[in-house]
Amino acid sequence: MDAVVLKNLSKTYPNGKKAVSGIDFSLKQGEIFGFLGPNGAGKTTTVKLLTGMLTPSEGECRVLGLNPAETPEKVHDLSGVVTEHAQMYNNMTGKQNLVFYGSVFGITKAEAEKRAGSLLEQLDLEEAGDQKLSTYSTGMRQRLSLARALIHRPRILFLDEPTSGLDPESAQNVNQLIRKLAEDKKITIFLCTHQLRYAQEICTRYGLMDQGKLLATGTLGELRQRIDSDTILEICAAHMPEGLGFQKAEEMLYENRIHRDSEIPVLVRQIVTGGGDIYSVKVRKPSLEDIYFSLTAREKEDA
Ligand SMILES: Nc1ncnc2c1ncn2[C@@H]1O[C@H](COP(=O)(O)OP(=O)(O)O)[C@@H](O)[C@H]1O
Ligand SMILES: [Mg+2]
Repeated sequence: MDAVVLKNLSKTYPNGKKAVSGIDFSLKQGEIFGFLGPNGAGKTTTVKLLTGMLTPSEGECRVLGLNPAETPEKVHDLSGVVTEHAQMYNNMTGKQNLVFYGSVFGITKAEAEKRAGSLLEQLDLEEAGDQKLSTYSTGMRQRLSLARALIHRPRILFLDEPTSGLDPESAQNVNQLIRKLAEDKKITIFLCTHQLRYAQEICTRYGLMDQGKLLATGTLGELRQRIDSDTILEICAAHMPEGLGFQKAEEMLYENRIHRDSEIPVLVRQIVTGGGDIYSVKVRKPSLEDIYFSLTAREKEDA
């Protein structure tokens, strides 16, 4: 059974805003799926549809075979959800919060305490576990929110911008934990983020969204094949002659898509004879960001 299935899933809000338009894809169990796109792309709306907080306007979705619009409580039993702004109880300690949310899922107090202890340790919150939530930093809260989502050993984890607002070190901590969770393949992870670089570090497959539409899905290798060229030549130069097809990426840095390695010496020679002083030449594979921009540009051309 697939972990998640979306079929022609669409959501139009009561004000007429079409946030999700007819998207189709599925996730196998154990995948770490990166659901990517800028703010407003429709990621959060999709998570809300998958967790039964919204019902589709058209189409349908399944989580481990269950329809969240019909049996949200069953979907909740199997899922953990981390939203951008997690609400927990400020006047309770970290551990009390976890035990409380455990009881919501029907876990006995003894078991919840044991599980909470182990999660607090894994998330580097062992000492903070006995402090009130009101004393927690944003990074600590976010990690506690992840612990809360995991308290009932869910089979699928929905993470909506889990590192938003975190400093780089806390974000790194959260990333490491997500990667560790994914290693034992017992859990499927649906990760929404607009931080494409961050997704590329941890996901096994991706779905790229733009304005409610799904542009493409696939592994990084598969997505690279969807764009015209899978090699980018990066040249650091003081001056770039016109007409060679280079785009300026930043000050003194120019990029060009190439198809064959034999194009490299030809271009380098042309730059030099055109009066360009070259400081470095580098070849790289397109990143998720490159792919995303390439696909959205093509979309605009078609429209
Ligand atoms: N409750 C709502 N009513 C009307 N429009 C909404 C509502 N929630 C979100 N939207 C709009 O739907 C679009 C998709 O939003 P969202 O799913 O939050 O995107 P993302 O999570 O990718 O940033 C945006 O244009 C947003 O403004
Ligand atoms: Mg969002």
